[in-house]
Formats: sequence, structure tokens, C-alpha cells
Amino acid sequence: MNFIKEINQLRKDKNAVILAHYYQIPEIQDIADFVGDSLDLSKKASSTDADIIVFAGVHFMAETAKILNPGKKVLLPDLEAGCSLADSCPAEDFGTFKALYPDHKVVSYINCTAEVKALSDIICTSSNAISIVKSFPKDQPLIFAPDKNLGRFVAKESGRDLLLWDGACIVHESFSMDEILKLVKKFPQAKIIAHPESKQDVLNIAHFVGSTSKLLAFVRESNAPEFIVATETGILHQMKKENPTKVFVAAPVDAKDNCSCQECPYMKMNTMEKLYLCLKDESPEIQLSDQLIKEAHSPIEKMLALS
Ligand code: 13P
Ligand code: SF4
Repeated sequence: MNFIKEINQLRKDKNAVILAHYYQIPEIQDIADFVGDSLDLSKKASSTDADIIVFAGVHFMAETAKILNPGKKVLLPDLEAGCSLADSCPAEDFGTFKALYPDHKVVSYINCTAEVKALSDIICTSSNAISIVKSFPKDQPLIFAPDKNLGRFVAKESGRDLLLWDGACIVHESFSMDEILKLVKKFPQAKIIAHPESKQDVLNIAHFVGSTSKLLAFVRESNAPEFIVATETGILHQMKKENPTKVFVAAPVDAKDNCSCQECPYMKMNTMEKLYLCLKDESPEIQLSDQLIKEAHSPIEKMLALS
């Protein structure tokens, strides 16, 4: 079957928009109406006039789109496409933790469940986390959840003392410093660029740290010929497309792990066939209770108002 043709027809017939994250497979990025980072995708989701939003990303992203568009049908090609970071912060445990610090406000990274969003004062993404944290008065104690690596980075950059939830992303935690340093010997001119979900040692040696869209902007504007990229490998597709003469090397993981750990197993659950089927069947659909949508909406809206 020609999935490209079928998807194009269904999208037109049903007035559907396909939003894709940079970690999706190249074919999905290429057919999407819009490809972006978590912040830009949330903005697109909040402003679309399509009747159906197909979110080619992971569950928390589609959930966010639904919270911003309760009246619209929001589809996710594979409902199992979760996120290790969101999983590392169960809402019940987080609620117990939060109750220990009643004087703290909660800033949560968008990579969390709708239930954790509902327990938060404001949401942030890796694009705006520093400015969101800085939007609070200096004497306001803050909890930052769920990513400890991003939280540590934001604390350093903002000069704020953040109380961190101990969560992490399996992909960004897998990069190996030893292997990166070996690669630097092979590509001595390369700039090391890293997503802030990466571990501290990697961030310390990176020439640039930023969200997926900021990494893309850095590469576009840099004169360097080579880049070692410490984030999920899906982003290499856009980097190569936008910069055909530059060389991009995925940051390696520990050789003994013998895995494709730089690939997010959740992001890669979406395929062209699943995208086609979900448009055709209008399923799987994201379903959330009215109460949860109400509670999770305001922290996301607050972020969008500040972004
Ligand atoms: P950004 O695209 O916002 O940088 O987020 C990366 C990510 O981990 C998505 O899961
Ligand atoms: Fe979650 Fe990490 Fe995959 Fe992003 S790359 S969706 S943070 S598991």
C-alpha cells in the first residue's frame, strides 16, 4: 500500500493535522504538517483549526494537545508510546512528595502525565525552562519535576536552588563520556551539542546545550563542519536535511551495552502504517476526564502565556 498517498487523502477528507516531533522516523517527519519541539508542538496544537489532531509523538504530548483542545479528536498512532521520564514520576508518589513542601511551588517539565501536570503550578519545556523558573520571585522555593538532569542544568543557569524530583530519560542517560571522548579524537573539529536531559558530565563538555529546536538552530548558524549530537537520533534527519554539507555523528553509548539506546523506543513505536490506520479508524484516541482536563489546563496555559 502507498501510505503516503492514503495518508494525504485521509488528512484532506477529514480535515486532520499531523504534528510530529523531531524524534519520529524520517518518513513521518516528512509527511507531517508541522515538525517541532515540545513547545512549538504545544503552540501548534493550541492554535490549529483542524477537526482532528494526529500526534506523531508520545503519550504525554498527545495528552497535552487534548488538554488544550478538549473539543477535538486527538489521535496517537500507538497508545503504548509512553516515556520513561513520565513513568519515573507516578502522580501518587509525586503528590506525597509535594505535600512535604507546602511552601514550594511546582514547575513540571512537559514530559509528565496529565495527573502530574494537574499537581503543578506551571509547566515548562526544555526551550523555556530557565525563563519559567526565573519568572518566580527569587525567594519563592521551587520543586522541579520530573527530570533531575534538566533540573540541575536549569538550577545552574538560573541561579535558583531547585528541589529536584529524581527522574530521568533512558535515552539521554545512556550516552557514554568515554565513548564521546574517543569520538572527539576522530572528529577533532566537531562541536559537541547536547539536550539538557543528558547527564551532567556530558553537559559539562558540550559546546552547546539546548532543546531540540535550539540544537537545530545552533547547527544552522554554526560554521563548524562536524557535530557530535547527544540527543535522540531522530533529530539527525532534520539536521542533515537542513545542512547537507555538514557531518553529524550520534553521541555513542557504552560499547558493552550493545544496544540502540540513542533511539527512543517509545518515539519509534509510531510507523507509517500505524499513522495511516489511526487516521482511517480515528483510533486510538486520547480520552481524559473533564475534571483532569480542567486541572491540567491552567499550568499549561500559564506556560504558553509566558512563552
Ligand atoms: P524537546 O523537543 O522539547 O527538546 O523535548 C525533547 C524530548 O525529550 C521529547 O521527549
Ligand atoms: Fe521520554 Fe526520553 Fe523518549 Fe523523550 S526521548 S520521549 S524523554 S523516553
